[in-house]
Parts: sequence; structure tokens; C-alpha cells
Amino acid sequence: MRDTANRLSIAPMMELTDRHYRYLARRLSRCAVLYTEMLTTGAVLNGDKEYLLGKDAGDNPVVLQLGGSDPVAMAESASVGEAWNYDAINMNVGCPSDRVKSGRFGACLMAEPELVGECVQAMQASVSIPVTVKCRLGIDRDDSYDALKGFVDTVASKGCTHFIVHARKAWLDGLSPRENRSIPPLRYEYVYRLKQEFPSLRIDINGGIKTLDETLEHLEKADGVMIGREAYYNPAVLLHADEKIYNTPFERPSHQDTVNTLAGIARDYARYMQNQYESGVRINAMSRHVVALYQGVPGARLWRRHLSENASKATDAITLVEQALNFVLSPASSTPLGCPETEQRHVP
Ligand SMILES: Cc1cc2nc3c(=O)[nH]c(=O)nc-3n(C[C@H](O)[C@H](O)[C@H](O)COP(=O)(O)O)c2cc1C
Repeated sequence: MRDTANRLSIAPMMELTDRHYRYLARRLSRCAVLYTEMLTTGAVLNGDKEYLLGKDAGDNPVVLQLGGSDPVAMAESASVGEAWNYDAINMNVGCPSDRVKSGRFGACLMAEPELVGECVQAMQASVSIPVTVKCRLGIDRDDSYDALKGFVDTVASKGCTHFIVHARKAWLDGLSPRENRSIPPLRYEYVYRLKQEFPSLRIDINGGIKTLDETLEHLEKADGVMIGREAYYNPAVLLHADEKIYNTPFERPSHQDTVNTLAGIARDYARYMQNQYESGVRINAMSRHVVALYQGVPGARLWRRHLSENASKATDAITLVEQALNFVLSPASSTPLGCPETEQRHVP
């Protein structure tokens, strides 16, 4: 599937959106566009390609996010991404970490729209898949709407037609990457205005979006919505995405309730983990992604604890997950030591 003109995407997140998480996310939504973690051009060109770029055949649509600012290296890396069957290439112009800044890529490139445009142009010349840009509203004191508009105008003039805008600026000096994801205020109105003023561009909105209902509201004023942390720390939010956002119900075995539907997904993921384990992947490198599958249901805390405490020494992912499922599928009989769970059931 090459169509990334899509309404919902799951954000690129370093250390989180690896191929294993993407396998899980794809069990929750067939339609949402998934992103890789950011890979630097150095890693793509010189690293272990199977490890960095390999993915499950059923993952697509997946976008490869690149970090870099040398147009030649970006173009070569984009070609590698196309050869590895990614559906689009995205350039990171939003990451504020020091490591990234010293390499002259990420959010600091908001100050160099000409260079970003050159990278886009070079990548577009080397691949036939879409090339997109993920950016912030601005950086430091350069955070006016006009500055954002100028950035988009310049990059679009070099051929970029699709921007994903994290709707807050980044403070490059003084805030950590984590703080930069929560302290600068969200200004969705800047993104809506971009869409109004550049109607022919595709403008996706990102930042602080937590539910499918919020997603639908943003889709009234933007072309697409990107969800990051909520899709990782509460992946069940994706469970009804296909039906609500795409009007394409996900055909999956029907169970009487969400808890059992999620159990089917957990069991599928357990089989996946076991296969991967047999080819050398540690179970706890994969089980960490499924720990948050249950939120707010009786037994969820014990589910999480069982996986977290036992995954590092586990050799059988299927048994590990079955044991953890006992806590959510029959919490009353599984709660140990008379320690009642007080969490309320409210999985969407
Ligand atoms: C742990 C973590 C790692 C991230 N890594 C990246 C990254 O590699 N590239 C990127 O463009 N954004 C990265 N982000 C930012 C997200 O893509 C997203 O823009 C941000 O979290 C705001 O969306 P949210 O509020 O829905 O989480 C990261 C965010 C988190 C929490």
C-alpha cells in the first residue's frame, strides 16, 4: 500500500516505535500509518541494515523517518528506505535533543528552511515514494505564526507537499527533550491556519491528542492526525481506529468485550515474540511494548507487574503472556494476598 494520504498516524518515537511495537500496533489498527524511530543517515548508510530497517511484511504502511541535513546523504538514505519497502520518507525537523542539535539536524533546522528544502529536493530526486517533513511551530524566540509560515513556504517551494506539525515550539537551550514535549504550550490554531493558508498542502497535526473523538475533531481542520505517547502508553486507544476514523471495521475474531478482544491481540503478540525469540531477540525487548495494553481494568496492574518482573528470564513468551492474562481475564480469582485491585474498567 503506497497511500500515505492518511487520516491517522502513529508518531516516530525513539526507543519505542521499533519493529516489534509496530507489529503490535498493526494488530490494533490495519489502517493507521506507522512510523519508525528516527534513524540518522549515518546509521542507515553504515549500520546493520537488517537490524535497523528490517520489518514485518504486514507492517505497511510504514514511514521511515530520517535525521540528517546533508542532502546527498539524505538522498542516499531515502533510496535505501525505498529499497527496504517503506511507503514514504519523513525528515525530522522537530527533535530538540542536544545530540541531534550538535549533528545539525532535528528542530534546529527550523532556522534553515533553505537547507531543509534542499534535502527534500534531493530525496525527491532519488525516490518515487513521498517525502514529507515533521516540524515544530518554531524554536526559541522565533515562534511567531509568520516564522512558521515562512518555513513552510520555503520548504514547499522546493517540492514538499506534506507537513506534520507538532503544535508546540521547541526551546533548544534550557529544556530537555522530555520537557520540550510538554512545557511549550500547544497552539493548534497555528496548524489550522497553515491549512487554511496553504490549502493545496497536506497538513497533519500532532501533539497532546489522546482520543479518537479528539482525532475526529482535528480532522475537521487538518488533513491528518498523528498520535504519539497515547498510542504507546495506552495502545488500546487504537482498537476502534479503523472503524471510527476510516469507516473500515477491523475484521477480527469477535469477543464479548474489549478485555477479551485485547487478549486475542496479546496472544497473537505472544506467538510473534516466541518466533522472534527463537531467532535471537530477547523477550523483554518485545514484552515491554505490550505492558500497557490493559489500562484501567481490574487486574491491569498485576498484568503489567507479571510481564515486567518475569520477562527478562522468560524463555516461553506464550506461557508468560497466558500467566499475565489470568490477572485480567479472571481478576477476582487471581488477585494474590487479599490485595484487591481498585482500578475501574474503562478501556475504550
Ligand atoms: C520517547 C519519545 C521519543 C520520540 N522520538 C521522536 C523521533 O525519533 N522523531 C520525532 O520526530 N519525534 C519524536 N518524538 C516526538 C513525537 O513524535 C511527537 O511529536 C510528540 O510526542 C508529541 O506527540 P504526542 O503528544 O501525541 O506524544 C518522540 C517522543 C517521545 C515521547
